[in-house]
Amino acid sequence: MKKNINIGLLGLGTVGSGVFKILNKRKGALKRLVEADLAIKKVAIKDMRELKDRNLVKIDKKLVTTNAMEIIKDPDIDIIVEVIGGREPARGFIKEAIKTGKHVVTANKEVLANFGEELFGLADSKGVDLYFEASVGGGIPIIAPLKRGLVANKISQVKGIVNGTTNYVLTRMYEDGCSFKTALKEAQREGFAERDASQDVEGNDAAAKIAILASIAFNARVTAKDVYKEGIGRVLPQDIIYADEMGYVIKLLALAREDKDGLDVRVHPAMIPLEHPLAGVDGVYNAIFVEGDSVGEVMFFGKGAGSLPAASAVVSDIVEVARNIQYERCGKIGCTCFEEKPVKKMDDIITSYYVLIQAADKSGVLAKISKAFGDAGVSLASVIQKRTWKDKAELVFETHPVKEHNLREAQKRIVKLDVVDSILNIIRVET
Ligand SMILES: NC(=O)c1ccc[n+]([C@@H]2O[C@H](COP(=O)([O-])OP(=O)(O)OC[C@H]3O[C@@H](n4cnc5c(N)ncnc54)[C@H](OP(=O)(O)O)[C@@H]3O)[C@@H](O)[C@H]2O)c1
Repeated sequence: MKKNINIGLLGLGTVGSGVFKILNKRKGALKRLVEADLAIKKVAIKDMRELKDRNLVKIDKKLVTTNAMEIIKDPDIDIIVEVIGGREPARGFIKEAIKTGKHVVTANKEVLANFGEELFGLADSKGVDLYFEASVGGGIPIIAPLKRGLVANKISQVKGIVNGTTNYVLTRMYEDGCSFKTALKEAQREGFAERDASQDVEGNDAAAKIAILASIAFNARVTAKDVYKEGIGRVLPQDIIYADEMGYVIKLLALAREDKDGLDVRVHPAMIPLEHPLAGVDGVYNAIFVEGDSVGEVMFFGKGAGSLPAASAVVSDIVEVARNIQYERCGKIGCTCFEEKPVKKMDDIITSYYVLIQAADKSGVLAKISKAFGDAGVSLASVIQKRTWKDKAELVFETHPVKEHNLREAQKRIVKLDVVDSILNIIRVET
């Protein structure tokens, strides 16, 4: 057994500084758990000039370098922790580390959702560990539960709220009735959204996360580009009000499901019933809901981001890898994507829809629109006339479950009707 397990930390930003703090704070307890000292031997950052400005624990300047490769090549280092983020150079650093025989812990969803196959293949061939708990749930454990605690189950679906920024924005829109733009500005002011929040609001962050979850849950490789995505930018204040009146709440839902035709993997705003456990997940909180054939329904809830929550997952991975090193069992549970499964086209998915239409406020309009739905093979569950002003009305239609293809056909017919001004929004309803 080793007396010291040395860590090379690539990145000392939000997550890296949290890792540094936890490893210091929990030093004694972690030593007992792994029967060795877990010590950060070197830290790589991008810009030395900013070292003094960091909101950080005290750090010995001698530990810090701007040359990540120097750390990766250091023969005394056992585990490389990559918390730089983004595609490159992070992916290159992870590859080099694995090639040099180092175990890797990363929080990088972007790299894993796009280059997972390459990296896990390499790790398998080198017999090293590649752990990534923080990449999906931040502080919420979900990778280990799917890979271990739920492995007895055939998983039928994984769905969740996996992006805190968009959940905060939608929650503020619900609470205040404000617009998307106003809620986003507030989130940026409060530090819950980055200045450039496009990765979050357009659904890219959630798409990378659900690609990773789908790959593990269904034992088949799903990459970020396989995931259909729509952001929250088109959600209107009245959608939120009408959803509430209909017994739903709007969330940015990341969803992965399997049926006999393949995988259904997507990210988009969705109406979910107020009584569903995910409906009560508000603000920056995240939750992931899993359905397995033996366990039934389970939900994981907590902070999906933040320095210490994300670092909690990274340090837990470090401890797991350190234990593997001590018991010489590294690289034993590698990639579990041993099947090939098609990802369904959006035209083929089946769900219900909320359709908000602005039309003329006169008799016969409802009949014309209902006929257009019917002609496209879409059956309606409910029709409600909402606001009216002057000679205009807002009409809300909820469909029964139907193929997306039929809904799009109905959409084409409806926009051509002379009584219809526009379709203001279409939102999927996940009952
Ligand atoms: N933030 C969260 O709450 C959270 C939660 C879960 C997962 N994650 C993931 O964790 C990763 C890190 O996120 P973060 O929020 O901690 O990012 P961050 O605050 O921007 O920190 C990035 C760190 O990487 C360093 N860096 C950048 N390029 C480098 C290079 N070429 N060589 C060495 N160091 C370099 C930066 O150095 P400088 O300090 O000199 O700029 C900085 O210390 C990302 O993959 C992210 O998706 C984050």
